[in-house]
Amino acid sequence: MNNIYKYDKIIESILRKIPEIIAKYGDISIETKSNERDLVTTVDKGVEEYISSELLKHFPGSEILGEETYEEGRSYDKSKLFVIDPIDGTTNFVKQRDDFCTILSYFEDGKPQLAYVYEVNRDLLYSIIRGEGIFINGKKIEKPEDKTLKEALITMDLRRMIDKKDIFEKSVRDSFGTRGVGSAGLDSIKVAIGKTGAYMNPKAGPWDFSPCFLMAEELGLHFSDLEGKEMTLDGYSSFIISTKSVYRDIFEDE
Ligand code: 2AM
Ligand code: CA
Repeated sequence: MNNIYKYDKIIESILRKIPEIIAKYGDISIETKSNERDLVTTVDKGVEEYISSELLKHFPGSEILGEETYEEGRSYDKSKLFVIDPIDGTTNFVKQRDDFCTILSYFEDGKPQLAYVYEVNRDLLYSIIRGEGIFINGKKIEKPEDKTLKEALITMDLRRMIDKKDIFEKSVRDSFGTRGVGSAGLDSIKVAIGKTGAYMNPKAGPWDFSPCFLMAEELGLHFSDLEGKEMTLDGYSSFIISTKSVYRDIFEDE
C-alpha cells in the first residue's frame, strides 16, 4: 500500500470529530434488533452515516461494510474495503454513556492495512499500522508480552460465553482473573496493549473483530474462531484474540 500515512491522517481526522457528532444528539431513541437486549440507537446510525460519507468523499470507489447497513450474505468487494462499527458497546453507551468506542479497519485486496479503536469519551485513539505496530494517540508502544493463562487477566461477556461450557470453565478457573468491558473493540485492544491475555466472543459481526486481523499479524497474537478455524470477513463468527500461550493453555493443554 502506497499512501498508508496519508490514509492514517485522514482517518484520524474523521474519527476525532465523532465526539462533536454525538454531542449534537439530544434525546436518543433506542430500538431493539435481534432480541430485547440487542440495542441500536439513532447515534449508532448517525455516526455510521457520518463516517461512511466522509470515507467516500476522501476515498471514492472504496467499499464500506458497516454494522448498521450490513446486508448478510452480500459479497463485499475486498480490494479497498473499510469495515466500521460506529458505536461498539451500544449497551454500555445506553446504560452508562461510557465504555464504548468506534471501530474502523481498512483492507486492501483482503489484507489488513490499518485498524483503529477510538475510545470516544477519553479521546484515546488506538491505531495499528501495517509494518509499524501499535500506537496510542500517536505514541508507539511495545508489543504485548506472551503471558500464560495462569498469569493473565482475560475478558469476555460472561452471560454470552456461558454456553461454551468447556472453554468457559477452563478459562474462568485457570486464568489469573476474569474481567469484561462489554465492547469487543475495547476488550480486544486490551490484549493488543498487553493489559489482558485474551478476549473471547461467542458470536460477533465482522465489524466487531475487524481490527484483530492486523493485531494478530503485527503483534504476534493468536486470532481464530473458538473452534480454532481461520477467521474471515464473510459473516458472523465466534472469535478469540489472545496471546499464543493463553490460546495454547485453554485449547491445547488437556
Ligand atoms: P455492539 O455493541 O456493537 O452490539 C458485547 O458482548 C460485545 O459483543 C459488544 O462489542 C457488542 O457489539 C458485541 N455483540 C455482537 N453481537 C452481539 C449480540 N447479539 N448481543 C450482544 N452483544 C453483541
Ligand atoms: Ca455497534
